[in-house]
Amino acid sequence: MKISIYPGSFDPITNGHIDIIERASKISDKLIVSVLNNNEKKSLFTVDERVEMIKESTKNFQNVEVEYFDGLLVDYAKRKNANIIIRGLRAVTDFEYELQLAQTNRELYNEVETLFLLTSIQYSYLSSSIVKQVAEENGDISKFVPDFVANKLKEKYKINTL
Ligand code: PNS
Repeated sequence: MKISIYPGSFDPITNGHIDIIERASKISDKLIVSVLNNNEKKSLFTVDERVEMIKESTKNFQNVEVEYFDGLLVDYAKRKNANIIIRGLRAVTDFEYELQLAQTNRELYNEVETLFLLTSIQYSYLSSSIVKQVAEENGDISKFVPDFVANKLKEKYKINTL
């Protein structure tokens, strides 16, 4: 059974992530989308909020599970019996960081393979940070994230600016 993990911050999930999840789910028996629970990294959404948004976005994919993880990704992968780590590559600027992550992970656990999926061209510019910037300035994010994520972003910024 091919169990893959798609790890990330997902703060929040975007249409680019959903595209990767859909494609990765087709080449995995089970795909676990995992949100890093990292207190050091300042995030807009709590881990629970991020997990909920991913669950809602992926509810139609039968073999996708969503949860969060703490600590090293490779230790989590071992616990889950997963040998494949999925990462999306948008542009060559992503490559250096991704290379570091993938090489380190394989050094730590040589049975794990990182599988890079090229982000579909229409999402190649998209990132959670850019979506947050546009949302904060009340720009139109309807093409970037599902409607319920757009609503959550609007709520968040309204609450934060009170
Ligand atoms: O969406 P992101 O922020 O680019 O995802 C980065 C993530 C979560 C994949 C990476 O930070 C990670 O795996 N963190 C867990 C800690 C770890 O295992 N670090 C060692 C690998 S360098």
